[in-house]
Amino acid sequence: MTNYFRSSVNAIASYVPGEQPKRGAQIVKLNSNENPYPPSPKALAVLQNIDAELLRRYPQPFGEEFRQAASKVLEVPSNWIVVGNGSDELLNLVMRACAEPGRKVVYPTPTYVLYRTLAQIQAADIVEIPYNEDYSLPLQQLVAVNGAVTFIASPNSPSGHAVPIDDLRQLAASLSGVLVIDEAYVDFAEENALSLVKEYENVISIRTLSKGYSLAGLRLGFAVANPQLLDGLFKVKDSYNIDAIATAVGAAAISDQAYKNACVAKIKASRTQLATDLKRLGFRVWNSQANFLLVQPPKKNAQYLYHKLKEHSILVRYFHLPKLDDKLRITIGTDEQNQALVAALADLLEIKF
Ligand SMILES: Cc1ncc(COP(=O)(O)O)c(C=O)c1O
Repeated sequence: MTNYFRSSVNAIASYVPGEQPKRGAQIVKLNSNENPYPPSPKALAVLQNIDAELLRRYPQPFGEEFRQAASKVLEVPSNWIVVGNGSDELLNLVMRACAEPGRKVVYPTPTYVLYRTLAQIQAADIVEIPYNEDYSLPLQQLVAVNGAVTFIASPNSPSGHAVPIDDLRQLAASLSGVLVIDEAYVDFAEENALSLVKEYENVISIRTLSKGYSLAGLRLGFAVANPQLLDGLFKVKDSYNIDAIATAVGAAAISDQAYKNACVAKIKASRTQLATDLKRLGFRVWNSQANFLLVQPPKKNAQYLYHKLKEHSILVRYFHLPKLDDKLRITIGTDEQNQALVAALADLLEIKF
């Protein structure tokens, strides 16, 4: 067939998301960092009461109802918030507004692989800088490149580590381009970077309702930055990028902090327990401030275990990538799911308790 695409599109390796099993399949799904608990009952009540009139009309172009709710919770003015179709869309808006051929997009690796795809779509110059062995930030190298956009996921995926706020502050102060702090997993972390958004005009924090709020299927994310920086993002976004249902349900979800905090507390306790159990099986387990663990099996046979677990209807994430192909990324499930995983692994490793 004729090749119809731009050369920069031809160069892209398609993003492979975590497997999504069929509805109703009896699977322990620990591969996409979803929250194992249902969304807030208050958000579900709003969903059940969506009326036809809301669907007949176009939605609010800036998701005003959600913006107002987020503004209250985060204590930032609502014009410092932009809402998107998942945080993926917000990453893309930054890329579309700031990246082009001849401009550098920079990020430490390993990290969220979508940064590369989005930069490739804009045919930007990509600079990947490996994290130090202990996942400390290669600060001087990032500063030396001084990209038009620098992406830092904190907590990072797949490592789970959080970048200290002081490192992010130094980076923000030293860069002349935009610093994107991807805080998709911030609800499970000890600190957040919101203060930096207020301190530095070039910092944008990107968040999601997919993880802490159990709403990955709703597709709702938002970013916080000063209004001048958001202006550029508004220019490149679709007119109605968030639908009326997401706006209304998301507003109720973010307003129910008590419910979200209770789910997060359970997940953090389970994270500690799962780390302990896996260490007992001989796994190396990296410290995590997210809702998943990066682990290395005792025999480093990650791919084998990934396939075997799948045969047992347990999905975890395996990355066929340098430095990651001997590790697994495991989402924290309910305690019952985590125990099923540990039992299956003990069986596969032939360890008797
Ligand atoms: C680091 C990171 N950022 C952003 C996202 C995208 O989240 P969403 O588009 O669901 O908001 C993910 C998804 O797993 C992620 O791991």
